[in-house]
Amino acid sequence: MNPIFPSILSTNFFNLQAKLSEFEKNRIDFIHLDIMDGHFVDNISFGPALARAIKGKFPFSLDVHLMVSNPAKMLSHFIESGADWLSFHVETDDDCNDLIGVIKKNGRRAGLVLNPDTPLERVQPFLKMIDYILLMSVFPGFGGQKFITATLERVRQLKKKLLSQQSPCLLQVDGGITLENVSLLKEAGADLFVIGTHLFNTDNIEEKIGQFLNRLQWSQS
Ligand code: DX5
Ligand code: ZN
Repeated sequence: MNPIFPSILSTNFFNLQAKLSEFEKNRIDFIHLDIMDGHFVDNISFGPALARAIKGKFPFSLDVHLMVSNPAKMLSHFIESGADWLSFHVETDDDCNDLIGVIKKNGRRAGLVLNPDTPLERVQPFLKMIDYILLMSVFPGFGGQKFITATLERVRQLKKKLLSQQSPCLLQVDGGITLENVSLLKEAGADLFVIGTHLFNTDNIEEKIGQFLNRLQWSQS
């Protein structure tokens, strides 16, 4: 699987179809959708209708990152709209076991998200049930923020924990990822990289994806 998960939050929405076509041509497998409700975070983005529209036109898998206060209510809508992977924040008030149960019962992959200041120990009770962990490298809500360097150490520690427990859980990082920090994140143990601003701030997406994949030493096998 291509380890670059483009986040479309920072794109110009008038050009979304053209951008997605470029991603398709350039071997991107997953699109990361940031779902914001204006309550869990101070921003509003988009909903299941956009997920459905993308699924109807493109072969991508969709990785839906729920930044909402009530994931329990929202999950079924995104599952129906074709989301393949769904992640929610451990900081939510909803019951994490129930949420994971709903995602898995519907045959989708479940991810647990941690804000930059949430202790890594919070994942432990759920490790055997989830497919991936998303470590936020910015405080959620907006694209274009600066990468929090302490994330590198968090990735290292979490990877160590996963390896020591022989966990197949994938480690995803989201926020402020650049050509400069992406290789450091990989070295630290990250598997998947959600990238917004630094993928879209170019006229030549093909070249930019190539540069990121080079840094990650990834080639399609
Ligand atoms: C932040 C979002 C991220 C973000 C990534 O709340 O979860 O997915 O949009 O975009 P950049 O790369 O601009 O930080
Ligand atoms: Zn995200």
